[in-house]
Amino acid sequence: MSLRVAVLVSGEGSNCQAILDSLHGREIEVVGVGSNRAEARGLERGRSAGVQTAVFPAAGYPDRAARDAAMADWIESLGAELVVLAGFMEILSPEFIRRFAGRIVNVHPSLLPAFAGIRAIEQAIDYGAKVMGVTVHFVDEGVDSGPIILQEAFDVLPYSRDIAAIEERVHEIEHRLLPRAVALIAAGKVRIDPDSPRYVIVEGGRDGDD
Ligand code: GAR
Repeated sequence: MSLRVAVLVSGEGSNCQAILDSLHGREIEVVGVGSNRAEARGLERGRSAGVQTAVFPAAGYPDRAARDAAMADWIESLGAELVVLAGFMEILSPEFIRRFAGRIVNVHPSLLPAFAGIRAIEQAIDYGAKVMGVTVHFVDEGVDSGPIILQEAFDVLPYSRDIAAIEERVHEIEHRLLPRAVALIAAGKVRIDPDSPRYVIVEGGRDGDD
């Protein structure tokens, strides 16, 4: 039986599309695409794939915790076993994180722990980084601080400070790395080392079976 996955988006949703294209209906079933923004293109991508969608604007609730609780209820009602943050640009409440502890993954456009938070690519360019990359990690209660599942780096030199070219390169990596991490989780090949909770053991990961 395939893993039931809810995807949360805030904007374009190209990472959501990559998951829909490469995994949906096979290794996993995307059971819902949710957003904090009604105009997020990711919602349309979900609808086009015949997936349920829902919008949870923060302004529609008394506070962020109430919004997150409503979103968590919806995700649970779908029977989702994994929550994928695919360009979801808000910090989730500690209660939300605890409800899905160890079952939320995020894709971030930097080699964490460098350049956490918003505008990661711009932060890296401003810093003058010569190597950049993408991280897929479990989400904990901090900002982009959870245990790392997969990372991939690239040299910045050929792209210099051309932000559009760097963004394109980042997306190209993300669209492979995020579906790969989700497929590995669906296959039961990802677990946290019980003796060392920051360390994620990935069978068949880049370094082989470690
Ligand atoms: C992606 O590059 C993702 O890494 C980034 O937002 C973009 C969303 O693109 N996420 C973050 O910066 C989270 N801190 P998409 O909407 O086309 O998938």
